[in-house]
Order: sequence, then structure tokens, then C-alpha cells
Amino acid sequence: MRDVSKAENAIGAAANHGDSLNGEAKVLLSVRNIIKRYGSVVAVDNICLDIREGEFLTLLGPSGSGKTTLLMMIAGFVAPSAGEMLLGGADVAPLPPEKRNFGMVFQGYALFPHLSVFDNVAFPLRVRGVEKVAIREKVLSALKLVHMDAYAERMPKALSGGQQQRVALARAMVFHPEVLLLDEPLGALDRQLRASLQDELKALHRRLGTTFVCVTHDQEEAMSMSDRVVVMRDGRIIQVGEPAAIYQRPRSRFVANFLGESNLLDATAVEKDGQSSVIEIAGRRLIVDGAVSDPGKASLSVRPEQISIEHQAPASADGELVIQGNVADVTFVGADYRVQLNTEAGPVIARCRTSEQIRVPGQGDQVWARCHTSAVWRVVND
Ligand SMILES: Nc1ncnc2c1ncn2[C@@H]1O[C@H](COP(=O)(O)OP(=O)(O)O)[C@@H](O)[C@H]1O
Ligand SMILES: [Mg+2]
Repeated sequence: MRDVSKAENAIGAAANHGDSLNGEAKVLLSVRNIIKRYGSVVAVDNICLDIREGEFLTLLGPSGSGKTTLLMMIAGFVAPSAGEMLLGGADVAPLPPEKRNFGMVFQGYALFPHLSVFDNVAFPLRVRGVEKVAIREKVLSALKLVHMDAYAERMPKALSGGQQQRVALARAMVFHPEVLLLDEPLGALDRQLRASLQDELKALHRRLGTTFVCVTHDQEEAMSMSDRVVVMRDGRIIQVGEPAAIYQRPRSRFVANFLGESNLLDATAVEKDGQSSVIEIAGRRLIVDGAVSDPGKASLSVRPEQISIEHQAPASADGELVIQGNVADVTFVGADYRVQLNTEAGPVIARCRTSEQIRVPGQGDQVWARCHTSAVWRVVND
């Protein structure tokens, strides 16, 4: 994996500007200073984002963070209060949806209830004045792509949620759009179906090579499908990056918590050391990367699976964080044990692989939580 610690996480870079330039990537659509106000509510607050050709980009954030509004502005269904959207150098912000050649899968699918599957998928082609013979061929090939060609004559209400989702996808793709926009495409489905459709969406993206911009509030979904994830909050972009980079190097406490479970430890920054900070925690000094600012209070993030549990005090080693504590609780969660510790640095959660752990910690045990300092990352408070 490339070094993400500097380019995409440099604190002090304008956090709301999602561009993370990478030499080879070609920009398809450039969102520039887009704002959407509804009265006094700022739904989207001055967002800048370069969408790269062919990528699977996901907007991730809690409910109300402005994801749908941003997507609807890209699609052309909502007019921005200010800003530009450059496609091949031309501003498409003033264009209506049908002039953009972008496909859209709406939240809840929005199939036409009075039209058959075939006619739903044919709709965008008819609007574009495509010939009848060509319509038939294009509709059937789009339905085939989502394994729904056998259902062409059905009405939407006679389909399961997963099947409706596929029809909505076929309708959005049938005219070979330049960009496919998907608003919570799996949101209405049960957990198991979601997982298999995540794989299918990913495979479809690979096969088509079309740029996908997807919206979700589900961090696992975002991480498992996307080339890049855009984390949003309160109408702003908080962080942009590859899934592993955001997970391992969250910029802030919010991102650390929003993308899975994280330990957030209070520490003291003693001094700066180039791109790193010298930190004091649990009576030790460590050099950690991440947000560098002046000495004082600091927050550190460590993922639970990076922590191992020792039953004997480990020999003091450079480059390691070792914290003594007691086991407060142990929960079996299938692939691993989730171990809660009370330590001298506060509560700590560790995840131990059930396959690797020789001695399972028991409640009340005195143990040592240990991890490499490369797994420790300084975050900003927000
Ligand atoms: N048509 C609208 N009128 C007024 N406020 C709106 C409208 N659409 C969205 N909002 C507000 O904008 C904010 C962002 O909403 P939305 O984009 O739907 O968020 P998300 O999709 O992330 O849940 C919310 O505070 C929401 O209430
Ligand atoms: Mg939404």
C-alpha cells in the first residue's frame, strides 16, 4: 500500500477539499465549491471533490450529513446554491438531469409501479428517442447483466427487494451513462442479501468500467466496495482516501469511531519531531505519526485487532506501547474474542483471533496490552 500518512491526512490541509491528487488518475468530474442551502440549513457546505474516471467512490456519513443532497446535485435533480461542476472542462451545474448522461439509482429504487420490468428499464431509452428495435436489445442486455432477463414481463410489486434493486440498476445503466449514481442502493435489503449484492455491484463495476458514485451510511459497505471513500459530516468532507488508509489512519476521533471500533487514548504530546510527535502515555515515551501540533493534550487511535494480550510483563522494547491492565470482560464474537480491559491509560478493547489465542484471557486477569507504535496514530479532536 502506498504511503498515505502524508498526502491524504496532512492536518492543516483544507479538510473540506476532498481532492487527493494522484499522478495517474484522470479526473472525470470536478465538484468545485458546491453549496446547497435550504433556508438557514446548509445541507452541503462548500464541497470540493475530484471524481476520477472509472473509480468506485463512496460518500459515507451519518444520516443528515448531506450525502443525498450532494448526489442529487451531481445528478441534476437539485440545483446548487453556489459552485461549479466541471465535466471535461464544461460546467454541467446548470444542466437538467437528462442532459448529463448520468444514471441514477434512487434511495428506495423508485420503480414506476404501473410499468412492467421491461418498460421500467426501457423508460430512459424512450425519453432519449431510441428506436424500438434497439430498445428491445438494450433492455434485454441490461436485464441480463443483473440476472433479471427472465422477469421482463413482471410488475414491480411482484418482485422481491433484491430483484427490484436489480431492475433499478438495469434502468440506470441501460443508456450507458458516463457516471452511475447510487443512493443507498442496498439500504432496503436484509443483511445476507446486502453482502452478496455488494460483491455483485463490485463485479459489475469492474465489468463495466463506468465511474460509480455511491452513497451509504454503512461503513463496512463503503470499505468493502469502494476504491475511495469520502467521509462526510454536517455537509462537509472530513476525510477522503482508500478504505484501508482511512481505517488505519483516521484523521480525527469522529472518523476513527465512525469506521469501526477504535481505542481513543488520552496522552500528552511532549514535542514535535518532523512529521511525528513525541508522546507520553502510561509512563512511556513513543514517537507516533498523525496529526502533529503543539505540545499538550493528544488523542491516540489504536484499532483493537492491533493489540495483543500478554499474560506476563513483556520485556521493555523500543517501538512498542505496553499498558498494564485488568480484564473487565471477554466476549466471544465468532472470529475473535473481544476483550475489554481497564488499564492505567483508561479503558482499552483488544480483539484476539480465536484461532491464534492460546490462552484466552479471563475476567479479572492481570494482563499487558501490547502493540507496535506503527499501529498507534495521533488524531485530532472533533
Ligand atoms: N428539500 C429539503 N428541504 C429542507 N432541508 C433539506 C432538504 N433536503 C435535505 N435537507 C436537509 O439537508 C441536510 C442533509 O440532508 P441529506 O442530504 O438528505 O443527508 P443524508 O443523505 O446524508 O442523510 C439535512 O439536515 C436535511 O434535513
Ligand atoms: Mg440520504
